[in-house]
Amino acid sequence: MCITIRFIAAAIAAMAAASVQSQPLELPKLGYAYNALEPYIDAQTMEIHYSRHHQGYVSNLNKAIAGTTAEKLSLEDLLLTSGRRGDAVRNNAGGHYNHTLFWEILSATPAQTPSAALQQAIIRQYGTLDSLKNALNQAAASRFGSGWAWLIVTVDKKLQVCSTPNQDNPIMDVSKERGIPILGIDVWEHAYYLKYQNKRSDYLAAIWNVLDWAAVSRKYDVALNDPLLKRIEKDTWQALKDFHVVMAQTFHPMEDGNLKPIRERAGEMKLKAELLKVSPIPASFNTAEIRKAIDDLIKGSAALEKSVRKKAKDDTIKSQLTALHDTFHVIQGLCSH
Ligand SMILES: [Fe+2]
Repeated sequence: MCITIRFIAAAIAAMAAASVQSQPLELPKLGYAYNALEPYIDAQTMEIHYSRHHQGYVSNLNKAIAGTTAEKLSLEDLLLTSGRRGDAVRNNAGGHYNHTLFWEILSATPAQTPSAALQQAIIRQYGTLDSLKNALNQAAASRFGSGWAWLIVTVDKKLQVCSTPNQDNPIMDVSKERGIPILGIDVWEHAYYLKYQNKRSDYLAAIWNVLDWAAVSRKYDVALNDPLLKRIEKDTWQALKDFHVVMAQTFHPMEDGNLKPIRERAGEMKLKAELLKVSPIPASFNTAEIRKAIDDLIKGSAALEKSVRKKAKDDTIKSQLTALHDTFHVIQGLCSH
């Protein structure tokens, strides 16, 4: 190969490598000056909070995922799967997401009232805007140690006030309450200690002066139609997740020619399919098509278990497990549309 061709080939290879390389996450620009939220949030707190704490979460997240499969995942995916990614990803992905939202809903010139649509939802569920603020303040004041108070849109598109510890948030699989946050109040001491010291309630009373209801209203509109809501709802379907685990741990070895896992776990697979039938199906997925696919899963896993019990040939087991895997993906596909 001549030098020119070799050079071009190397350049193409480098470009291909660069194209699959994920970009590191970056600290988002702050939409106002450090002193813009004075006197309610002081400039020094803002500067340290943004340029050191938030930057720290971004840097540590990049460090935690560098060179791992998590590097190619979106921030949403990292949050949705944070329970199995270790504390460094959980804490720093949460820290990055939570603070990004926090800066966006604060403003030096905040809208004092929510949009008509959000206002209606608040009145329907909380009676008045003040009642909602009280509920949020209560959640924020009673969070022991560090954490956040949230207003979220739940999978059934309702509003809910809740609170999470540390840098968790309700998108995460580890959170008891699930949904998309549209308003978050940081109650870590780093958010208020320089100005308010230990008086968290004074900080909570002050923050409403810079809370921009226009930004919260925009987030409400986006959340109502965000596909992430359906992903969260699917993630709450524990019986489907349990079936998935057994399927993944038997089907993939089979693809590599190892039938030992399925021969050992066909009974467990049948049981997980039956549990899928008797456990509640999340509202959006409780359709005739999905119920039929679950029935097919039960029939297929019963047939497979019988074959395994009768020590059927490898080819029979392979074709039955492949068919079962296809049926499982019919359910997965129906849940995604
Ligand atoms: Fe913070």
